[in-house]
Amino acid sequence: MALLEPGSLLRDTYEVERFIGEGAFAEVYRVKHRFLGRQALKIFKQSEMSIEDTHDMLGEAILLSRIGHPNIVRVFDANVLETQRSQHGYFTMEHVPGGSLRKFWQSHGEALVPVATSLDLIKQVCRGLTVAHSEKPPIIHRDIKPDNILVGYEADGLRARVSDFGLAKSVNPLTLLATTAGTVSFKPPEAFLDKKGDSCASDVWAIGATLYMLLTDHLPASPAADMTLNARKPIVLPSRTNPDADSGLDRIVTKALNKNPALRYRDARELLEALEQWRPVYETSQIRRKILSSEPSKLAIDGVDARDSGRGRQLIKSAEELARSGRLTEAADTMEEAFNKSPEIRDKYSERVRLWRRGMSM
Ligand SMILES: Nc1ncnc2c1ncn2[C@@H]1O[C@H](COP(=O)(O)OP(=O)(O)O)[C@@H](O)[C@H]1O
Ligand SMILES: [Mg+2]
Repeated sequence: MALLEPGSLLRDTYEVERFIGEGAFAEVYRVKHRFLGRQALKIFKQSEMSIEDTHDMLGEAILLSRIGHPNIVRVFDANVLETQRSQHGYFTMEHVPGGSLRKFWQSHGEALVPVATSLDLIKQVCRGLTVAHSEKPPIIHRDIKPDNILVGYEADGLRARVSDFGLAKSVNPLTLLATTAGTVSFKPPEAFLDKKGDSCASDVWAIGATLYMLLTDHLPASPAADMTLNARKPIVLPSRTNPDADSGLDRIVTKALNKNPALRYRDARELLEALEQWRPVYETSQIRRKILSSEPSKLAIDGVDARDSGRGRQLIKSAEELARSGRLTEAADTMEEAFNKSPEIRDKYSERVRLWRRGMSM
């Protein structure tokens, strides 16, 4: 729909740099705040949203921003904007140049994301959600999925941040279901049965489904067929697809994905504890890799190939130029874009991005 135009100035404060992406109910833009630099601005598609509606929708996200946690996206500002056609609610938040976990995962192409990396990221997600689940009453995310986990390189390494807390709550469930089939796959079975079935254990299921996708390049359940509590089709264990997963990890994933919420980990903290106790045992052989299918299964899930090594090379070049002229933050942001285009360069350049983020060039 493109609600905002690149180059335009909003409320005398934000310069729109470019469109980043969109979901079922909002568009996201990279903007430059007059004084504070780069931020991400999310504008709701729904028209005639009042400032009260906007604040209501953002209540939990703002509350969590106030608590402040490295694994939760920080919200800076919320207000309404007049566009040519109508009035829209918007908010601004940290801009995470690497983008979503879905992009990060896609950028690995036909290779699986290394298990240690997947575990590191999912544990960080659990840490962020633990803060939310520990509130009284607990704050439930309701829409955990790879698109709502943002991933970027910080000075101290890869960082995952959970975004869009509670936003799904006030959105018409039909709008949400109307999005891609992939999105539905991250909804726990009870979401299809009972509107009031939301609990911390629902978030646990969604984290489990996200971990399952990272480990196997498959979704744990096909949305239509497997979504009722009665359907008892067991999941294909991650260790069958991924040689670096083992029975211990199988048990954790299976428990997180139990169809019955009462039999799952109760909240993110319990899941985190289990994940922290897991130690990899490398006893399986590479021959078992991708037993389930030999096709590039990321394509089977997403239908798009984000890779573009020509564009990747261009981006590396501009990143290096930016670094040479001392613009290290922009250099790092640009290199992270390059990672999403050419998976093979991630290993080679990620250390450099970390240095740039620490303010060091080489
Ligand atoms: N703070 C941010 N920094 C960078 N990219 C973002 C940010 N927030 C969202 N995005 C990107 O914009 C896309 C659209 O976001 P969103 O409207 O929340 O839809 P969805 O989560 O359903 O994909 C995300 O998938 C992500 O790639
Ligand atoms: Mg989102």
